[in-house]
Amino acid sequence: PELYELSQVLVPWYQKARRDLPWRHTTDPYRIWVSEIMLQQTRVEAVKRYYARFMEALPNVNALANVEEDKLLKLWEGLGYYNRVRNMQKAARQIMVDYNGTFPKTYEEIQSLTGIGNYTAGAISSFSFGLPYPAVDGNVLRVITRITADDSDIMKQSTRKQIEEKLKKVIPKDCAGDFNQGLIELGAIVCVPNGEPKCEECPAAPFCQARIRGKIQELPVKEKA
Ligand code: ADE
Repeated sequence: PELYELSQVLVPWYQKARRDLPWRHTTDPYRIWVSEIMLQQTRVEAVKRYYARFMEALPNVNALANVEEDKLLKLWEGLGYYNRVRNMQKAARQIMVDYNGTFPKTYEEIQSLTGIGNYTAGAISSFSFGLPYPAVDGNVLRVITRITADDSDIMKQSTRKQIEEKLKKVIPKDCAGDFNQGLIELGAIVCVPNGEPKCEECPAAPFCQARIRGKIQELPVKEKA
C-alpha cells in the first residue's frame, strides 16, 4: 500500500526538487547509457566533467564502436573499472552490427547488450523511451526498504528481484522515467545513507513505515558481503 501512495507523490516532488544535471537534458539512449555507467561508480559532481569530455570526443554509438582502445581508456582514466568501458565498446559494436547503429528500443534487446544489467536497462528504457521498467540501484533499495520497513538483506539478489517486482506494479505508465529518476533523486538528496535523512523534506514521510516505526537507522539491512 505504501508503494501505491508513493506513486502519487513522487513524480510531482521530483519535478520540483530535481537537480539540473547534464544527462537530464536528453533522451538520447546513448547519452543516458554513458551517464548511468559512469554514475555506477563515481559521484555526480565528479561525473559531470568526465561525461562532458566523453560526449565531445565520442558523441554517438558509431564513434564509440570505432575509437581506438588507447584513446577510449584515456577518456576513462580516473573513473576506474576499465572493464566497464571495454564492455561499452563491445555493446556499441553489437549495436552497429545487429541494429544498424540505431540503439534498440525494447527492454529485452537493451538488456541483452554486453555490460547492461537490469538497472541500466531499466534506466535507459524508462528515461529514453518512457517504458515502465524499474531501475533499482543502491539508492532505490534504500528508499524502498525504508518506506515499506522491509528488513530483507539488500545484498541478496532475491531482495532486489522482489523490489523490482513490487515496483513494476506501481510505475506510472505515463511518466515512468520521472518516477525512476525521482526514486534515485530521493535516495541521493533526502533519504540519504549516512547521518540524518531529511525526512521533513520527504514526500513519502507521512506513510514511510521506517519513520513511523522509528527504524530509519536500522534500514536497509546489509549482510552478505
Ligand atoms: N545515480 C544514478 N543514476 C543517476 C541519475 N540519472 N541522476 C543522478 N544520480 C544518479
